[in-house]
Amino acid sequence: MNALTQRDVGAIVDASFAILTSCGILKRPVPSFEPSLYEAAQGRIEPHFEVPQTTISPLMRRFLFHFARATQPQFIYGAGTYVGFAFAWLISGRQVGDGDFNARGVDCDSAATIIARRNMTWLETIGALDLRVADALIDLESSSDSIDLLFIDVDAVDTRKSLYTDILECAKPHLRSGALILAHDPLVAAFRNDFERFFAYIGNQDCFGPNCILPLDDCGISVTVVR
Ligand SMILES: C[S@@+](CC[C@H](N)C(=O)[O-])C[C@H]1O[C@@H](n2cnc3c(N)ncnc32)[C@H](O)[C@@H]1O
Repeated sequence: MNALTQRDVGAIVDASFAILTSCGILKRPVPSFEPSLYEAAQGRIEPHFEVPQTTISPLMRRFLFHFARATQPQFIYGAGTYVGFAFAWLISGRQVGDGDFNARGVDCDSAATIIARRNMTWLETIGALDLRVADALIDLESSSDSIDLLFIDVDAVDTRKSLYTDILECAKPHLRSGALILAHDPLVAAFRNDFERFFAYIGNQDCFGPNCILPLDDCGISVTVVR
């Protein structure tokens, strides 16, 4: 089997965004994926970041980068940011754009967050970026910032992905109209029950609009919009 060309990969990213637009999740026109912009971000991240482990695939990296570039969120909140690898693609995508933005990444693992802070220096976003050691549920409850993009990827030995719903519930009062929610791993069989609860919660709340799962890799990503 032949490997995909860069052009093929860009076409897959663009097709994902066409799906999000046709589902009614993205309402504004979306720029095309630009390999040169992505490669510039890749050069700041991949050779320099310390990443002990990750399931963020090359295609998912492109998707996250392009998602933040296309949607230009003012405040990005990451729950379960570990060493900042997935978060870095979002931050880098947002950096391609106008105006200031802020981002907060929260993880209860202090050692991982120390690495994340070191990793993120390569992105030169120091002032805009706040990486906290905290339980995201507690942090969100005491937060007063309005969120435009919520990225959920918490995972722990005892709770696995069961906290996704609780995190969304705690974030709900802070989500702006039009905010977007990315939840990593909806396709992982071991997390099926956790995601059934998560999607049932989304379906039962009037404030959430359409939801879509993109099968970009074995983990997949779910995208939801706030009405
Ligand atoms: C799968 S890792 C995240 C991987 C990461 N997104 C990446 O870039 O590859 C899951 C993280 O969730 C964190 N976590 C688990 N429960 C949490 C909670 N309640 N609040 C904040 N972080 C949590 C863990 O410490 C772990 O670092």
